[in-house]
Amino acid sequence: MHTFAIDGLGLQATYTKTLIEDACKIPSEFLENFDGANVTVPHKESAYAMCDEVRGVAKDVKAVNTLINENGNIIGYNTDAAGFLKSMESFGEIKKVLILGAGGTAKALGVIFKQHNAQVTVLNRSKNRLAFFEDIGIEAYSWDDFELSTYDLVVNTTSAGLQEETLPIEENILRDIFSKTKFATDVIYNKETPFLKLANEMDVPNKDGADMLLYQGVLAFNLFYNHAFKLDEITKYMKKTF
Ligand SMILES: NC(=O)c1ccc[n+]([C@@H]2O[C@H](COP(=O)([O-])OP(=O)(O)OC[C@H]3O[C@@H](n4cnc5c(N)ncnc54)[C@H](OP(=O)(O)O)[C@@H]3O)[C@@H](O)[C@H]2O)c1
Repeated sequence: MHTFAIDGLGLQATYTKTLIEDACKIPSEFLENFDGANVTVPHKESAYAMCDEVRGVAKDVKAVNTLINENGNIIGYNTDAAGFLKSMESFGEIKKVLILGAGGTAKALGVIFKQHNAQVTVLNRSKNRLAFFEDIGIEAYSWDDFELSTYDLVVNTTSAGLQEETLPIEENILRDIFSKTKFATDVIYNKETPFLKLANEMDVPNKDGADMLLYQGVLAFNLFYNHAFKLDEITKYMKKTF
């Protein structure tokens, strides 16, 4: 995606992977050799800890996916959250959302929906990650004590369905949820997960995480180039990847 945008905009830059064997050397190697970087699962929280400064929604999410080398300081951002919101625009206004899962992605989505005044509920397999949500005023349940309501959107942020063909929650509970939900989305992309298959079977309008991937990339690129380009223009080139 980034290479398409670099080429399309006629820039001199390289977006690449680098192996740094010694994790302690990541900050110095980054500052010496790079202007920016992306961070993927499962390193977003440790990347947050190594930033000199964290800006925007990442401060509340406590995880970063984008690093900028700003005059020798590592500045961290989280573009997953805003990228996800942008990807949901086609569903219209989301006032009430159920998030399945309580990991890093669920935190990003919970925080940004809360900031946009949506009513957020989190439902996770286990209880041990729920405190983060409860502490910021988000209703959070484990499978044992879940109380069903109606929702504009249900999001699967668990990794169930990524490798193996499993649903993120028991099928009968998910059927009940889908029967009370306007839209469904899975953050997993380029795949019809069991979650999306069931949504399709029950005629719940849905999409996968490809647009989230696209827009988090567009927003990261925008930060790499300090807002020098229009988001639509970056999007146009990045879309050529899909
Ligand atoms: N589209 C995009 O641009 C984009 C961006 C970011 C992430 N993602 C995707 O989002 C997914 C989650 O990433 P993450 O960083 O949030 O992961 P994470 O921090 O490891 O959290 C995983 C969550 O999934 C739950 N879980 C895992 N396996 C499960 C299963 N079999 N059944 C039910 N729940 C299960 C865990 O529950 P417990 O707490 O009970 O263990 C936990 O709440 C990944 O698939 C990743 O690829 C996509």
